[in-house]
Amino acid sequence: MESATTGRIDALELKKQIDAAVAAIKEINPATPEVGIVLGTGLGMLADSIESSVEIPYESIPHFPTSTVVGHAGSLILGTLAGRSVVALSGRFHCYEGYSLAEVTFPIRVAQALGIHTLIVSNAAGGLNPQFAAGDLMLITDHINMMGDNPLIGPNDDALGPRFPDMSEPYSKGLLTLAETISLELGIKLQRGVYLACTGPCLETRAEYRFMRTIGADAVGMSTVPEVIVAVHAGLRTLGFSAITDECFPDALKAADIDKIIAVANAAEPKLTRIVVECIARLPKR
Ligand code: HPA
Repeated sequence: MESATTGRIDALELKKQIDAAVAAIKEINPATPEVGIVLGTGLGMLADSIESSVEIPYESIPHFPTSTVVGHAGSLILGTLAGRSVVALSGRFHCYEGYSLAEVTFPIRVAQALGIHTLIVSNAAGGLNPQFAAGDLMLITDHINMMGDNPLIGPNDDALGPRFPDMSEPYSKGLLTLAETISLELGIKLQRGVYLACTGPCLETRAEYRFMRTIGADAVGMSTVPEVIVAVHAGLRTLGFSAITDECFPDALKAADIDKIIAVANAAEPKLTRIVVECIARLPKR
């Protein structure tokens, strides 16, 4: 049952909901994907490269969060990419939309139960590191959770993962090396850095950007960290990328231009897509 006070789902109920979602998906397509991809900003066009794909609207999967915006709910896509069996989550849910972090991360739980061993995530982020420029890509080496919430709060189902999951390597070292090797081979510049997540929806003040930089963040955004926490809890190997869409340098801050941020994210997409497709092709089997 979902708690009326916290919006969180109790542990046994969560497992039942995952099983129901998996059963409904398997009835449509019995594939066992190896790799999950959250098609966040920067990876949207990857959906078009998935072969023999079967697209299942989120609305038709039991317990999937649904969007209040008509036609924007998203879909789960099963198919083949770079010769590997994948499940892509096209459309993600954010904390700032009012979803609980259990809802935000439910699709990750379902992807894990379908069989994935590796999760690839992307996002748009503001650059805090003064060496970064809008348009850069950043490999996420680590993260800071400043959302003031955690998707694992509440009773723990030991069948889904440990009560106190280790966070010493949320982003797989092996996959970081693979992504860097590939970016060098392709001649695509790839920064590396720490991603800080806050809830949004407002952007941050100069004082907040200064603080975030001081505590060790290289980029800031409003997603990804809940999904990665659940991925780690579920024992998945994770690889994450940020498209740096704007420069959040406190002493030279300009008013955020959301249209420009979206345009920069779209322009970064082909580069990120090339890196990710090659990473998938060369992912070590688990
Ligand atoms: N903050 C600032 N700039 C951004 C963000 C953010 O969360 N996301 C993309 N650009």
